[in-house]
Amino acid sequence: MSESEEELSAGHSPELEPVVEKISTEYGFDVRGYKRTTLYRRLQKRMADAGCPTAEDYLVRLETDPREHGQLVNTLLINVTEFFRDPPAWEYLQRECLEPLLGAQPPEEPFRAWSAGCATGEEAYSLAISIAELTPGRNLPVKIYATDMDEGAIMAARAAVYGPAALENVSQERRERFFEALPGGQSRVRREVRRMVIFGHHNLLEHTPISRVHVLVCRNLLIYFDAETQQQILQRFHYSLREDGFLFLGRAETLMSRSSLFTPVEPRLRIFRKHPDRVPGRRPPLPGSRFPDRLPERKDGMDSSRPATEQAVPIEQIHGPVLLLDRDGALVAASPAARELFRISDRVIGSTLAQLEERTRPTVLRVAIEDARVTARATRVEEVRLPVGDGKIAILNFEVRPLTEARGELAGLLVWGQELTREYEAVEELVRVREELEAVSEELQTSREELETINEELQSTNEELETTNEELQSTNEELETTIEELQSTNEELETTNDELRARQEALNERDRFQGMVLSSLQMGVVVVWSNWTIASWNRTCEELWGVREAEAVGQNLLQLDSGMPFDQIRKPILAVMQGEEPARSLELKAMNRRGRPLHCRVRIIPLQEPANGTAGAMILIEAAAERA
Ligand SMILES: C[S@@+](CC[C@H](N)C(=O)[O-])C[C@H]1O[C@@H](n2cnc3c(N)ncnc32)[C@H](O)[C@@H]1O
Repeated sequence: MSESEEELSAGHSPELEPVVEKISTEYGFDVRGYKRTTLYRRLQKRMADAGCPTAEDYLVRLETDPREHGQLVNTLLINVTEFFRDPPAWEYLQRECLEPLLGAQPPEEPFRAWSAGCATGEEAYSLAISIAELTPGRNLPVKIYATDMDEGAIMAARAAVYGPAALENVSQERRERFFEALPGGQSRVRREVRRMVIFGHHNLLEHTPISRVHVLVCRNLLIYFDAETQQQILQRFHYSLREDGFLFLGRAETLMSRSSLFTPVEPRLRIFRKHPDRVPGRRPPLPGSRFPDRLPERKDGMDSSRPATEQAVPIEQIHGPVLLLDRDGALVAASPAARELFRISDRVIGSTLAQLEERTRPTVLRVAIEDARVTARATRVEEVRLPVGDGKIAILNFEVRPLTEARGELAGLLVWGQELTREYEAVEELVRVREELEAVSEELQTSREELETINEELQSTNEELETTNEELQSTNEELETTIEELQSTNEELETTNDELRARQEALNERDRFQGMVLSSLQMGVVVVWSNWTIASWNRTCEELWGVREAEAVGQNLLQLDSGMPFDQIRKPILAVMQGEEPARSLELKAMNRRGRPLHCRVRIIPLQEPANGTAGAMILIEAAAERA
């Protein structure tokens, strides 16, 4: 199937072409050789992920968001890979290809291999391990060039650190010998294997191919390219490989219908050898299209090497076209088939070929007949095409044999024709069927590659989902931890709360008791801090001075609007507060809240703080109504 047919059948999306063009011409990643079906699917996926419903939207996104290009490249390059992917193929490669090559390798000459499209390195390390197992203690210089155009993948490959899932195909023995355990279940490829591999950024379509390699591994990459690009890459691979080199492709990649540059070694496992005498760019001729170079045995059982004159069968009974000429080239006899073919009538028997009419003259034979006559040797003319009416053509090979007399002199010439029309028709039919088969197998191949690609995409999506799932699980675990921490904090808070509540109750109780004591005293009690702020004001004070406890506590005593004669007690209080006097008693006159005169006996004592001395003063007031 041609590329355009493939595109049509795959649902060509012309609206995405501007995106393809932009990536190819402006971003240094020429994707025009990639299969459109896959390319479009990946593009559409990226557009959906980026929230761009149309190609125009996406072009704008590419223009405005500098990170988008990287995201797109990541989506287009599918990095799915495994250690020893398709184990039977790797076993075969090691046993049947690497072992003989390494066995014949001169010790001083480096063994060279190339893993093209190596993704995150598993394939290159699989190759290195396969070689290391065959060369214990040989110290053979080995260079495995491992390339990919995805720089992120190459960085991961260089780090050579893999999780447990990546090592599923690796036997326990290989894990122990070629990997070292890291914390967290990770494993790292050991140094002895790592130093065999040289990783590098390389675009298969643009950069010079690695040369003189013994083994070229390029798996599951050709499937992404269209047929023409695959052919170009295969030509480069042909150049890269040494004459005795092997090409190892992916499971879905068969070269049978694509390239004559390689011959299959184990086609089922996709292992090929370089075809040494093929020049890249030429297809070999179709087998079966050549004709036998010798005339077959005659159907009538006649020995064509013997002169016709010696045959017992008269010429009229011969099936094929046969002409008998005398030594001068005059027509002596013609078989019925020859008469029909050349439209020869009895009238022209005895004439030379030159004398025959243009229409009946077997002109194409003239040179051959003349040659045989002059040289007395047999001559041949092949693939003579003669019209036989109804627009049909007969195809024949002719042989002209000189007939000699007993003395060796030329007696005449036998012209014998071999009908090939049916064989030709059969060959043409064969070619047609072959082409059809090739087209069908091409279609099948495309579908298989398509399936393989979808599979890879699914695997990739699956891996993405697994990662997302793992992330979600980890977020979930974090949330659960946080919840547990919160629960524990909550429990602690509840305990603290209970303690506080108990303490508060105790305080309330003490307060109540204190209030009870203060209000039970038959005298006014005022406690002031040294800055004159009232700390306590008992019920007797409320009754005496008409100010409630809530209005008094926290106020400056000297500014309180009550009948207390502050001007008289200010100085004595200050003296006590400043420690000038240990205590003070005085008597004074005042006015209660109803305006009745009072006689007050006041005692001022210091409010002692155990550590800091005087913190204020306590004023005890005994009041009695003034007698009139
Ligand atoms: C599906 S992976 C195959 C990995 C490995 N060969 C295997 O079979 O396990 C295809 C790899 O080819 C790389 N690739 C795609 N186009 C490329 C190009 N033009 N040149 C080099 N590598 C390319 C991708 O980045 C990706 O890592």
